[in-house]
Amino acid sequence: MALPFWHIAHFDDFFDHYTINGHVLGTGVRGKIRTCYDTTGGTFNVYAMKIVPHTPAALKALMLQQSIPPHPNICLLLRVYFNTMTPQLAALAPNITTRHAIIILTPMARHGDLFSRLEKGICTTYVFDRLMSALAHMHRHGVVHGDIKPENIVCFTDGKYPHIAIIDCEFCHRPEDTTWTPAGTPNFASPEIYFPCARVDNRVTTAADIWSAGIVLYNMTFLRSPIDNSLGEIRRSHFNICVPKGAPPRVAATLRAMLRVDPQTRITAEDARLMMRA
Ligand SMILES: Nc1ncnc2c1ncn2[C@@H]1O[C@H](COP(=O)(O)OP(=O)(O)O)[C@@H](O)[C@H]1O
Ligand SMILES: [Mg+2]
Repeated sequence: MALPFWHIAHFDDFFDHYTINGHVLGTGVRGKIRTCYDTTGGTFNVYAMKIVPHTPAALKALMLQQSIPPHPNICLLLRVYFNTMTPQLAALAPNITTRHAIIILTPMARHGDLFSRLEKGICTTYVFDRLMSALAHMHRHGVVHGDIKPENIVCFTDGKYPHIAIIDCEFCHRPEDTTWTPAGTPNFASPEIYFPCARVDNRVTTAADIWSAGIVLYNMTFLRSPIDNSLGEIRRSHFNICVPKGAPPRVAATLRAMLRVDPQTRITAEDARLMMRA
């Protein structure tokens, strides 16, 4: 059943209702994320606009995201439109080859993503606490995000304690869904994404998000990645992550519990949150 916050419709021409002002919020794999204004409602509300191909996998992920009750640190899907791939849309999303596109409008975060803020001095324990609260919420509702990384965490406020929210649920899935094609971002993907033998019943579970969030915590703490960039090295690196000496003991203990190679022994989001607070 659709929750009230999700408005879904089919438009012949999205641009009859919304105006794009050219401001680019970020660049994704399929094109730029832009701001757009609601011009029909007379409110001139501003949103972040993402265009994705109209595919069964995209629809499945949207429905799943929609099934999660709202949480302050998970970006809402405010409006979803199905639209024919018009020349104007194609110009904005040149890599989309399907006949129809899905246009997703979410609240616009004015202060960029966490990646661009890492070196500006954020309170790591605060951001980590909010991230773990959001992940615990998703996991409680049986959803794996599937692509946790600093670029998929946006900041709605500035300063040391930014209000963050998780975005980009395109790879979200249920752990029991063994038809899900393992995806994610190489430096952040867990060992079981690379090594199917590390999975139980061929499932990629919520533990995959814990690994990725562990890499985010490592990045926030040491301002570098523990994983080498080339693919062969990425696979080897998974077994060699060591926490640098001098790390605060709580951070070191939490990282070790999150970056366990065996997903079955990895800590949960709620316990990682408590461990960091202890
Ligand atoms: N709601 C938003 N507010 C502000 N910036 C956003 C928002 N959504 C996306 N972005 C920016 O655009 C980038 C790409 O968006 P994302 O949805 O992650 O696309 P992709 O699926 O291609 O990775 C993000 O890393 C972020 O910098
Ligand atoms: Mg992304």
